[in-house]
Amino acid sequence: MTALAAREAYRLWAPTYVSETAITALECGLVEAMTPPLRGRRLLDAGCGTGRRLRGTDAASMVGVDLSPEMLDAGDVANDPAISLLVGDVRALPLPGAAFDITWCRLVIGHLPDCVPVYAELARVTVPGGMAIVSDFHPRAHDAGHRRTFRSDGVVHEVEHHVHALTDHRAAAAMAGLHLVEIREAAIGPAVRPFYDRADRLALYDEHVGLPVVLALAFLREG
Ligand SMILES: C[S@@+](CC[C@H](N)C(=O)[O-])C[C@H]1O[C@@H](n2cnc3c(N)ncnc32)[C@H](O)[C@@H]1O
Repeated sequence: MTALAAREAYRLWAPTYVSETAITALECGLVEAMTPPLRGRRLLDAGCGTGRRLRGTDAASMVGVDLSPEMLDAGDVANDPAISLLVGDVRALPLPGAAFDITWCRLVIGHLPDCVPVYAELARVTVPGGMAIVSDFHPRAHDAGHRRTFRSDGVVHEVEHHVHALTDHRAAAAMAGLHLVEIREAAIGPAVRPFYDRADRLALYDEHVGLPVVLALAFLREG
């Protein structure tokens, strides 16, 4: 299967992206646990997709940026006056520097061949003393043969993915002035067994159980 570039993949995936998967559900739990209280903070979601993770937070202001206008349009937050959504690239965010207390970049960085420009931008827009939280498809899942796929009109597509080892994340972040303060990972386990059950794929669950599929990293913006 030839992997689609992210721009084309998310154009096709946008109408059905709303459905959570085992990976997005695990990722959500990890990032929620790692994010400091948002109340009164300025929050950026870089590569926000439909903007769904911004919904319902009590941040003082919320901005989402995504490469795919189709993803931004597919969400139900576009009309929320508390949330601003912008089309843009995480490697050149259309935003001023030091404008956010908390910056998320969730399940995006693996779509890019080089994580250096992503971390440079996350660091630029995060205020000194603020926090950046980055999640990624786990390198061990890729090593085990798992791929990032979705179904559109009955056809299974793979999305471009580049493996970034923990050392790559750490080095790119350090170069940008982001100091790694927390590492968490989430593995296939009972919390996501219902996803396999609903898909009538419990045999696959038994095969996958214990495999880490999401890596999440929290960084402090130095300065
Ligand atoms: C797996 S989705 C995650 C969306 C969202 N972060 C979430 O957790 O629901 C990956 C998103 O990254 C976006 N993306 C990929 N490359 C990007 C880039 N260079 N700049 C901005 N967004 C990008 C895609 O359009 C897609 O919406």
